[in-house]
Amino acid sequence: MARVAIVTGGTRGIGAAISIALHKAGYKVAANYAGNDERAAAFTKETGIAAFKWDVADYEACVKGVGEVVAKLGPVDILINNAGITRDATLKKQTRAQWDEVIDTNLGGVFNMCKAVWDGMLERSFGRIVNIGSINGQAGQYGQVNYAAAKSGIHGFTKALAQEGAPKGITVNAIAPGYIDTDMVAAVPANVLEKIVARIPVGRLGKAEEIARGVAFLVADDAGFVTGSTMSINGGQHMY
Ligand code: CAA
Repeated sequence: MARVAIVTGGTRGIGAAISIALHKAGYKVAANYAGNDERAAAFTKETGIAAFKWDVADYEACVKGVGEVVAKLGPVDILINNAGITRDATLKKQTRAQWDEVIDTNLGGVFNMCKAVWDGMLERSFGRIVNIGSINGQAGQYGQVNYAAAKSGIHGFTKALAQEGAPKGITVNAIAPGYIDTDMVAAVPANVLEKIVARIPVGRLGKAEEIARGVAFLVADDAGFVTGSTMSINGGQHMY
């Protein structure tokens, strides 16, 4: 039986590439999305991957959404926490609402989704969770105290939950993407982005498929000894 995977934010950007890669690898994929119905419908039409709408920042919505996926596709063995937003502004200009939105979606969403699938993974003694962090959670980024804090939180969350999952057959890992060619990065002012790309040793933005490649490795049945790790996929921009 094909394993079932949920990819949050799975109809656009890095998430879409992950959904497609897992679908091609033979998994049954549920691509979650929060708002863009038009894009989600087009994505399902193009790929045949089912899209499910709920807001990862809303705990009850996550529990209900996972229930719908289980009813339609079966028990969830794989969770990719990819959904994320930016509200970039220097601390001087950043509002409390911009802080809350990013923390609630990017970090709160990881808690909500893990809670919603965790008991089922424990019962079946199998699980694969991959949390999408960021180079900016590792190294910080001017104008991103909210995003860097949330992504850094994801890296800590991953290492803590990996310890709880390890004796139960559940692995929990993170991927820290660098600057990837998506709508999110396209929103960075051109003059700023130019300077960032100049600091990437590989000399270009990454491709969403290059993140999906790492996810496919981490979710495989035979990746059971890899847990609590952070895979940096950033063109050499930040190494440690
Ligand atoms: N380091 C030091 N100083 C910087 C700086 C930096 N990296 N970036 C800007 N500044 C300085 C500017 O030179 C300017 O200085 P002066 O006032 O002396 O001229 C000052 O800060 C204000 O700069 P801006 O005009 O850009 O200020 P702003 O308020 O209009 O915009 C900003 C600030 C929103 C942070 C904008 O610079 C920006 O969008 N930066 C990009 C942030 C970024 O990289 N976001 C990543 C998004 S993609 C992502 O997050 C995915 C992922 O995981 C990698």
